[in-house]
This record gives sequence, structure tokens and C-alpha cells, in this order.
Amino acid sequence: MIRIRPRRLRLTQSIRDMASETRLSSSMLVYPVFIREGNNIIEDIPAMPGQKRYSPDTLPRILERAANNRIGAVLFFGIPEHKDECGSSAYDEDGVIQKAIRISKREFPNLTVIGDVCLCEYTSHGHCGLIRNNDVDNDSTLELLSRIAVSQADAGADIVAPSSMMDGQIHSIRDALDDSGHTDTLIFSYAVKYASAFYGPFREAAGSAPSFGDRKTYQMNPKNKREALKEALIDVEEGADMIMVKPALPYLDVIHSVKERVLVPVGAYCVSGEYSMMKAAAQNGWLDEKRIVCESAISIARAGADIIITYHALELSEWIRNEEV
Ligand code: PBG
Repeated sequence: MIRIRPRRLRLTQSIRDMASETRLSSSMLVYPVFIREGNNIIEDIPAMPGQKRYSPDTLPRILERAANNRIGAVLFFGIPEHKDECGSSAYDEDGVIQKAIRISKREFPNLTVIGDVCLCEYTSHGHCGLIRNNDVDNDSTLELLSRIAVSQADAGADIVAPSSMMDGQIHSIRDALDDSGHTDTLIFSYAVKYASAFYGPFREAAGSAPSFGDRKTYQMNPKNKREALKEALIDVEEGADMIMVKPALPYLDVIHSVKERVLVPVGAYCVSGEYSMMKAAAQNGWLDEKRIVCESAISIARAGADIIITYHALELSEWIRNEEV
């Protein structure tokens, strides 16, 4: 005989917690930080209320909160003063991101630092690679990306995160890191990065909007999922230690499928547009910020993400600590 148990059991909160299928922890969260050149600067990013740009000297103020909350890592984006055709300040030993990494490792040695490896914030044209004949040239860009990765590892980055979507970038960066003695530096690949409108606020924050054309030739078509699996598998083959899917909420199905196919940790990046959308609704009093942020993070974890990169990482880690999630 089949016995049907009522679903509306009145369980205690602690039984619900014990039996829940999905959990969040501070250690799975990554907090992205924008660092601009200059001194004594903390400035608002209008399209991302609550997020700021820091100069290297003010950076420790926000890192202290990240370190105290014991989040998994911080992810650095550099905003240089000087931009040129080939993004040379991206691999400058004294570039803004290299300075930020050194300060972070000096002040908070146990806080894991991830460096974003890309060119779009550093090039005058705003594309993620070198331009030849009005188009991004994949192969000549690889060498530059490798130089950026090595310069960040030299400065002390624990992990580098290549985000430019050039073919072969993981292979070439792994070789360059190994050749320069950085065999312990990990690669967190933005393997699955869609050409998304959700990056809008980031491009304002980092001043990285392309001055002509778009990124559709190197970022992925939102209509494709199997292509995501192909990109993820190639990057693992090339030596990626972790794989990222980006954006997160509109691509939960992709996160799930990638997780089923690869045997490395999977991260999901809840990007600037996702953040700003939630923030705007909350500021208007239309949605409860804490509840939507927690529910979204749980959905991303339930889809299979081991790591969540989110601009809400600091608040989330506090809510997790206070058992409010
Ligand atoms: C750099 C990069 C972008 C983001 C992360 N790395 C922007 C882009 O491709 O335009 C977006 C992150 C966000 O929107 O929060 N290539």
C-alpha cells in the first residue's frame, strides 16, 4: 500500500534547515571591486547604487570588510588613466591593478585575490583585443593576455580570470604562467560569456564600452547552449582550473548543464545589470532587497554553481552569518 504523507507538515525551522537541498556559505562568494588610478578617491558608480570606485590607497577600507566576512575572494577590475591601442597599462608593473593586488596581499594576505585579465578597460577603442582591419585579432591578442596574467601573478594574484573570450587564451596563459614560475597560480576562465545587455552598468563603471561595433564576434549568442558546453570543455582541456558562466540568472539552465559536464568547480557571475535591476526595484520599494538577493543566490547555487560572483557578496555574507538566508 502506498502511504501518502501530507506535504504541509509543520516542521521546525531547524528541521527545514537540516534537510534543505541547497546551502550558501560566505566562502563561495566572490566580490568584484573597481579600482581607478589616483589618491584618496572613493566615488559612486551612478548606474550601480552602493558600488564604488576606489583608488589603490582607499581600497583597504572595503577589503577589510571582505576579509572580516571571510568571503571566498575579491575580483579586481582596473580602470587606468592612460588608454592606448594595445592596452599597455594592463601589463604595466605599476599599473593600477598591479598596485591594487600588491596592497591587498600586503594588508590582507589571507584574502584570495582574483585579477580580471582583459583589455577592454585599457584600450582606447574599448575592445577586448587588438584591432586589425577593423576587427579584433585573436592570435596577436593572446600574447598580450599572457603578459597581463603574468604581471598580475608577479604582483601576487592567487587566481587570474581571463574574460576576453579569445580562442586559445587559457592554453597560452597557462604556458606563460608556468614559464615564469607561477605554476601555483590558478586560472578561473570566463569560458561561457554571453554577448549580454546585462553588462551595461559595468561598462559605465569601468569606462569600457566599445567605441565602434559590438562584442558579438567574440562573446556568445544567448540562443545557444550546446556552444556553452563546447566552450567549457575546451577551456578545461586547455588547463582551466575553474569555469565561469556569465550572466547568471538569465542562464540558470546553462549553469546546470555546464555543471553536469565538467569536473572542475563552476562559478556563476551575477553581473552588473542583474545587480542594478534588483537595486532599482528595491530603492523604489517595489521588492524586498534582502529577500530577492537571497532567493536569487540560492537559485544560482541550486542550478549548480559552486562559486557565486556578486556585487551583493558583502551583504550576503553578513546575512548568511546572521542566519537570515
Ligand atoms: C571584461 C568584462 C566585462 C564584465 C566582466 N569582465 C564586460 C564586458 O564584457 O563588456 C562584465 C561584468 C558585469 O557586468 O558585472 N571583458
